[in-house]
Amino acid sequence: MGDTKKTYYITTPIYYPSAKLHIGHTYCTSVADTIARFKRLAGYDVRFLTGSDEHGQKIQRAAEAQGITPLEYTTNIVNGFKALWEKMHISNDDFLRTTEKRHEKVVQELFTKAYEKGDIYKAEYEGWYCTPCETFWTEQKLGENHTCPDCGRPVEKVKEESYFFKLAKYTDQWLKFIEENPDFIQPESRCNEMIQFVKQGLEDLAVSRTSFDWGIKVPFDPKHVVYVWFDALVNYISALSPFDGDGELYKKYWPADLHLVGKEIVRFHTIIWPMMLMSLELPLPKKVFGHGWMIVDGTKMSKSLGNVIDPIPLIDTYGADSLRYYLLSEITLGNDGNFTLPNFVTKINADLSNDLGNLLNRTIAMIEKYHGGVITKCDDMDDLDRDVSTLAVQTAKDFEAAMENMELNKAIKSVWAFIGRMNKYIDETMPWVLAKSEDAHDKARLQSAMYHLAEALRIIAIIVSPVIPVGAPKIWDQLGLVGFTDATLEDAKVWGLIPTGTKVVKGDPIYPRFEIPEMVEVVVEEKIEEAVDTSNIPPLKENITYDDFEKLDLRVAKVVSCEMVPKSKKLLKFVLDIGVEERTVLSGISQYYEPEAMVGKKVIYLANLAPKKMMGIESYGMILSASDWEEHLEVTNIESLPAGSVVK
Ligand code: ME8
Ligand code: MG
Repeated sequence: MGDTKKTYYITTPIYYPSAKLHIGHTYCTSVADTIARFKRLAGYDVRFLTGSDEHGQKIQRAAEAQGITPLEYTTNIVNGFKALWEKMHISNDDFLRTTEKRHEKVVQELFTKAYEKGDIYKAEYEGWYCTPCETFWTEQKLGENHTCPDCGRPVEKVKEESYFFKLAKYTDQWLKFIEENPDFIQPESRCNEMIQFVKQGLEDLAVSRTSFDWGIKVPFDPKHVVYVWFDALVNYISALSPFDGDGELYKKYWPADLHLVGKEIVRFHTIIWPMMLMSLELPLPKKVFGHGWMIVDGTKMSKSLGNVIDPIPLIDTYGADSLRYYLLSEITLGNDGNFTLPNFVTKINADLSNDLGNLLNRTIAMIEKYHGGVITKCDDMDDLDRDVSTLAVQTAKDFEAAMENMELNKAIKSVWAFIGRMNKYIDETMPWVLAKSEDAHDKARLQSAMYHLAEALRIIAIIVSPVIPVGAPKIWDQLGLVGFTDATLEDAKVWGLIPTGTKVVKGDPIYPRFEIPEMVEVVVEEKIEEAVDTSNIPPLKENITYDDFEKLDLRVAKVVSCEMVPKSKKLLKFVLDIGVEERTVLSGISQYYEPEAMVGKKVIYLANLAPKKMMGIESYGMILSASDWEEHLEVTNIESLPAGSVVK
């Protein structure tokens, strides 16, 4: 049986460990998880992949700023990703880190294959680079004042030897593919955008860098590292270990059925990735779906804007189901969505605690009170019963159809309409009146009502399980059923599966009610612009003339060696390479830097300061550093210092 199941391979983007993940990322992963769980329920053999994208200049710089290795840096953050996904009950089958050997091997293999085919060639790259987006841009595409057209941040000029991938070569093949596969890019509006982009003309893509080394080495030219997007996109295949043994996983799951990605990276997934695959003569994924952004106060949530909402405290307070339910039911997949705490709590109170929670509580309490907790099957239906049993099965079918169509919120809406119908059914059947009657007909009606409520909840538990995987099995347990993990979507399309004699098990309310908070709790993750006590900033000095300035001989110098000066509390002894010669210089910064960490770093050096003897050592010139008025000092990285810090 297992072998004949249809497979479904679904992926999220692999996230950059450059920041703590926020509810934007949580949204993307929750959508993917819900689809994965739905497909499992529908009988597919599902593989669900997520991971981390750990190479590139941005990561290297972030690690340097903290004085740790890039791998130490990413490992810390990736552990946080994994903990978050666990908290959110994300059911991924694999987690790929691009720093893993299994990935590196495949990237090198595929890069070499494209090179040997002649689709990768060496040339000089001269242009612009957006480090936050890890994207190359031509002058014409840039925004005003040399900014990235995607994110608006300043780009950097890059001029270096680079390998290029013949993207332009695949233009016609791509256009033909899109024409033949109009559903490949979803939603449709994104498809038109991509066609326009390609028709404007593509340039070959730089796919290696030499100006830093945190990446996968080009195997035949190791001073190059593979461009981080070429590296990252391969994850969808490398996670299937295509070159291990007989490549069983790869054969089984590739091509992917769905790459779920944010709208700003649709271009990479629908143009660059397919063209890479065309060159490699590998099958293309079946679908790329671009979802929208979580917006706070009208702007995209982002760390640099300081408006990120940390999902961890939300989950700790309100539970994973609540956050999943809100994100999935409030947002039409493909559109942007808003998050505000009062809306969130209002919604989960109404839908989870009230509608669903109360339906369950009332049902279990009545079965206990009227029938000693025992459910009895009842074939004697009246019109009202027939209405709800028909609607139950129809709801399961509507849910399935909407899910297949990627209309998650519509799918959820249909279930909650049914939940609403069942709450009304209680009011219509008035079991508390029937319970007082000695009439045989009334007794039968009461038994039927209890059975219909229990059956409705059985079906609801199955179909809501992809959305709220924590609460769904609790419904099942309270109904006194067993084997929830074996329940299938087919079971939800059949009425009447609860056997007579099933004994309910009363439990705590599955979703508590919460106070509605007044304020949106926006957690500022990073001190973007620190509130500075300006009274501490030393006063500005007197003006000097340009001639005075000209007298300073400032140089970039490279640290050749660095060691503690014996018996000194503060002094480090540096040997600097200043191009024309080597210099020995003492600097009183040993409380800020480990000597070993300075080796290889570049510093700004005042070369013509009169020599001075300290601790018996002649010191030539001075290494410039910047510090605030407290205890912060930087030599190589001034990003973390407040404005007004003094350079000396
Ligand atoms: O782009 N709302 O990683 P990433 C919704 N490493 N989604 C959001 C969001 C928001 N406010 N902010 C971010 C990368 N995302 C690459 C991917 S895949 C081979 C490499 C989503 O960490 C964003 O849309 O910058 C994207 O899909 C994902 O988070 C990863 O973002
Ligand atoms: Mg991004």
